[in-house]
Amino acid sequence: MNEHVQTEAGESLFNPLAPEFIRNPYPYYERLRTTDPMHLTVHGAFVASRHAEASLVLRDKRFGKDYVERTIRRYGPDIMKEPVFRSMSHWMLQQDPPDHTRLRGLVVKAFTARRVEDMRPRIQQIVDETLDRIVPQGKMDLIEDFAFRLPVTIICDMLGIPPEHREVFYAGSRDGGRILDPVPMTPTEIAQGNANNAMAQMYFHQLFELRRKSPGDDLTTQLVQAEEDGSKLSNEELTANIILLFGAGHETTVNLIGNGLLALHRNPDQLALLKANPSLITNAIEEFLRYDSSVQLTGRVALEDIEDLGGKKIPKGESVLCLLGSANHDPAVYPDRPERLDITRPNVKPLSFGGGIHFCLGAQLARIEAEIAISTLLRRLPDLRLDDAVNPEWRPTFVLRGLKHLPASWG
Ligand code: HEM
Repeated sequence: MNEHVQTEAGESLFNPLAPEFIRNPYPYYERLRTTDPMHLTVHGAFVASRHAEASLVLRDKRFGKDYVERTIRRYGPDIMKEPVFRSMSHWMLQQDPPDHTRLRGLVVKAFTARRVEDMRPRIQQIVDETLDRIVPQGKMDLIEDFAFRLPVTIICDMLGIPPEHREVFYAGSRDGGRILDPVPMTPTEIAQGNANNAMAQMYFHQLFELRRKSPGDDLTTQLVQAEEDGSKLSNEELTANIILLFGAGHETTVNLIGNGLLALHRNPDQLALLKANPSLITNAIEEFLRYDSSVQLTGRVALEDIEDLGGKKIPKGESVLCLLGSANHDPAVYPDRPERLDITRPNVKPLSFGGGIHFCLGAQLARIEAEIAISTLLRRLPDLRLDDAVNPEWRPTFVLRGLKHLPASWG
């Protein structure tokens, strides 16, 4: 039943880990939207590439995560013996109500608009200190030296990770994202995932002990206390959700800053417009999120038979992959040349933070971090040049879309 639609040139319509797909997925998305908008992949999942279906699936109660069943279908019954998959099964991101509601309820207060607004001075301070150190050098890697440091520091602050423990996170490998891709991992990749997961667990167990002995005003203390209460959170859920918050809290934001800076420098008219009108930054961030989202896809499972979704029948238990990056370029919603970066585009409202009950908890935080990082950089280094804006090096993952390096110079 797994039809594998090919183009005239014989390529697959959806081969998301192919280097050319990673380099520029947007022409492939256009082909999917116009030729087979509910494409069935070789791995047996439907790919919703139009905004209408992707957005509906995220919000419709007939769809859910059903993570364990979905993963067993993809990998076979033994997969839940692998620690990295077991740990992930406890993420709120992979849970359906009522567990999802319980887990999200334990942390949601830390992400209210007010709490996040209050972080502005701290975010500005981190960006300023980073630039104070870098500006005299005349060159940097915008990813490793600039974009990476801010979100990691902020999530370490939020989790109460002591400053003296942070170097290991600044040196982090950022290889964990592969598990989110819609192409099954190889045994070697699973082994690497297990090793990374074991290291993270070892560190966070130490942090839990520290916060039990000396509680702080941070998310780890909050969750450790909820776990001690006994009824709100199991020990496995505690560890898994701290790992989720740490990962979700930085990788995506690093990539928003990196992808946004690349987009601006590839569109010098938009860069000049933003420099001349710095107050456009808030809308520019929405446009960066739409134009080249740092999260390209998220999935759901049909919890019942769906008679018609974009012309296809989706049987109960089948997966639908919502292509956020493609929905963001759908001319049905963005009639004014969606392939163009336009920081003045009205009503952007990208699907990049998802929708429905799993809508990104960190959306406002990510927006503010990117806003302060990019506007401060443009102000302090007005003659910043990218050394290779034409063919930069992308990370080899698909769901988390971002650059490995983005060398820049000035002066
Ligand atoms: C540009 C930055 C970011 C993007 C594009 C992004 C994207 C997303 C998306 C698409 C989802 C929903 C996935 C789904 O529906 O299956 C999500 C969920 C989530 N995000 Fe983000 N995110 C970003 C930043 C952050 C930050 C900074 C944090 C935390 C500090 C965070 C924490 C979370 C959490 C905990 C969830 C799970 C929510 C739930 O399941 O209820 N994210 N994010």
